[in-house]
This record gives sequence, C-alpha cells and structure tokens, in this order.
Amino acid sequence: MAQLLDPAGVDGPEAAIERAAVALERGRLVAFPTETVYGLGADASSSEAVARVFEAKGRPAGHPLIVHLPDDLDLGVDSPGLSRFARDVGPAARALAEAFWPGPLTLIVGRGPEVAPAATGGRDTVGLRVPDHPLTLALLRRVGRGVAGPSANRFGSVSPTTAAHVIDDLGPAVDHVLDGGPCRIGVESTIVDTTGSEPVLLRPGGIAAVELEAVLGHPLRDDRGGPSRASGMLASHYAPDVSVTLIAVDQLDHELERGAAPGRRIGLIAPFEHGHQPGWSLPPDAAGYAARLYATLRAADRAELDHLLIVPPDRGTLLDAVLDRLTKAAAPDRVNTI
Ligand code: TXA
Ligand code: MG
Repeated sequence: MAQLLDPAGVDGPEAAIERAAVALERGRLVAFPTETVYGLGADASSSEAVARVFEAKGRPAGHPLIVHLPDDLDLGVDSPGLSRFARDVGPAARALAEAFWPGPLTLIVGRGPEVAPAATGGRDTVGLRVPDHPLTLALLRRVGRGVAGPSANRFGSVSPTTAAHVIDDLGPAVDHVLDGGPCRIGVESTIVDTTGSEPVLLRPGGIAAVELEAVLGHPLRDDRGGPSRASGMLASHYAPDVSVTLIAVDQLDHELERGAAPGRRIGLIAPFEHGHQPGWSLPPDAAGYAARLYATLRAADRAELDHLLIVPPDRGTLLDAVLDRLTKAAAPDRVNTI
C-alpha cells in the first residue's frame, strides 16, 4: 500500500480514522498522533505486525514497545477490559491509571494475553498507556485492541512531534500517517514500573513526579541512574545529529567567543529572546520549551551547524523531563544508531 499522509480533514476525521483502523486490522503500520509525540502503531496482538515496527524503526528486537489502549476499558479491580492486556495490576498502578489516563503516563505491569511477546521484546512485563489525543482515542475505540507503538522516528534520533517529522524519518516504511497536528506536550510519557514492591520512575516525562507522588501518597523511587532497563534510558537517546553542549546562561558570551572561528557555524537554543544566528528562542517555562524542543532540534540539524549550544530552561513542571532529554542530546558518548 502506498504511504498515505492522512490529514483527517479532507473528508472528515471519521473517514480518516476508519482508513487507519482498517490498515491496523490488516497488520499494517499506522503512525498516530498523541499528546506527547507521534507513535508508530501496529496491532499489539500480532507478532507479524509488531515485527514490522522493529524493522521500520531500525530498533533492536529486545527493546520493548509501549502498548496504547482505548479509554473505554474498565480499570476497576478484576476488570475484564484491562486483564486482556495486563496481569497483576496492583493498587498503585490502578490509582495512577485512574488519576492520569488518558494522559502521558506509561505503567509497566505484567503482560496480558492480547499482547504478543514480540511487542515486549520477549519480556513478561508490558508498558501500557491511554494516550490523550481525540483522533487516536477514536481510533483505539474503533479497533478495540491494543496498539503497540514506539515513537515514530528512526531508533536513536529525536522523536517526531508533527506528521511531517514522521514522513521525514520513516518515509515509505509507514503505510499510513494519521495527521493530528503538532503534539501538545512534546516530550514522551513518564514511565513508572509497578511490577516490584514499590513503584519506580524509569523515565521522567509529560507528568511530573510530584503529581504522581501526590496520588501515591509517598515519594517515588527514581531508578534512572540504575542499570539501563529500557532503550529510552541509553545515554545516546534523543540525540540530534549535530554535537551539543549544554551551558548556563552566564557562560553564553564566553562559549560563543570560544567557539568562534571564520566560517564556523555555532547554533544557539535558549529560553529567552536573543539575537544570535543561527539561533532559536524558546519559552522560559519548561512546558512551553518542551512543546517546541524536538522540532527545534530538527531545525538545528537542518541548519548545517558545526556545533550547537543549548541553554536549558530553569523552571516549570516539565523541567525534569526536559533536562533528561537535553542531557541525553549532549551525551559525549552518544552514537546515533540510524
Ligand atoms: O509518549 C510516549 O511514551 C511515546 C508515545 C508514542 O506513546 N512512546 C514512546 O515509545 O516514547 P518509545 O518506544 O520510544 O519508548 C518507550 C520506552 C522505551 O524506553 C522502552 O524501553 C520502555 O518504554 N518500555 C516499554 N516497555 C517496557 C517494559 N516492559 N519494561 C521496561 N521498559 C519498557
Ligand atoms: Mg522513542
């Protein structure tokens, strides 16, 4: 099937959703919008469909995918809906799902019967989330099954926050792109592992740890520094092609002077208005900064820079997630596994 960028506006969102649903049911790859980043979806119960996701993305087979669920599942105790996809869902997972789904929170729980082992890289746990985007929720309700989907970029590069980014990265490897406009949050979901004796934060993301702690009633153990348990935790992840240095605002003049040389192009991304060219000014609050970060990193890659300086934001609820992604973008040992 030819790749189809579906703007969901030509003949109405219902028709676009129907086309995407039929493609998923036929085992094809459908890129879909979420509030965080675009996902590259396949029927989570089909190992053949899931294998195509790994192939299109260039992702190593052992790296588990997140399974996206519709919002009309009953989350209550012994709910037949959730038990199709999950087992051993404890009270902490239930409380977090109840409070934050649909939303940017992925919960690691036991893998249920409708998730193909290939989707989780053979693990007996699965990351589940109900995304908060009207088009994708309508699609998930229509198909009535789990949709396994990593971010819709080549493995190791920056996640896509528009349909055009998906096409730039994956091109004809995707069968269908459901265009839902730019992603509202712009960084990936927060991941919490609930399979152990206490919930553990694996990846900071669209929901701040303090919000999760308010629901749990206790501090969340942070295991980011621990052994790399998930692909998003590799230091090389979320990296643009250009080399990056993170700097504090009071180092700015010094760094620009130090990097200056005839013909050398130093780019600057900073959370304030500045006149530097090539450069990009982002909002001072981490949430506003997050919403534009990945598109800006892509623009910086296109600007043929020799080096990119980034001043992080210093406040806002999504500060943790933004600092995490920026640190990875600047990791000296990063290898873009494209
Ligand atoms: O916001 C998001 O989470 C986006 C949208 C599309 O939902 N998805 C996303 O997927 O970021 P991906 O594959 O790029 O990152 C998923 C992360 C990876 O680091 C993966 O290793 C981890 O979730 N993960 C998935 N299942 C897991 C499991 N069973 N145990 C531990 N980590 C898991
Ligand atoms: Mg990703």
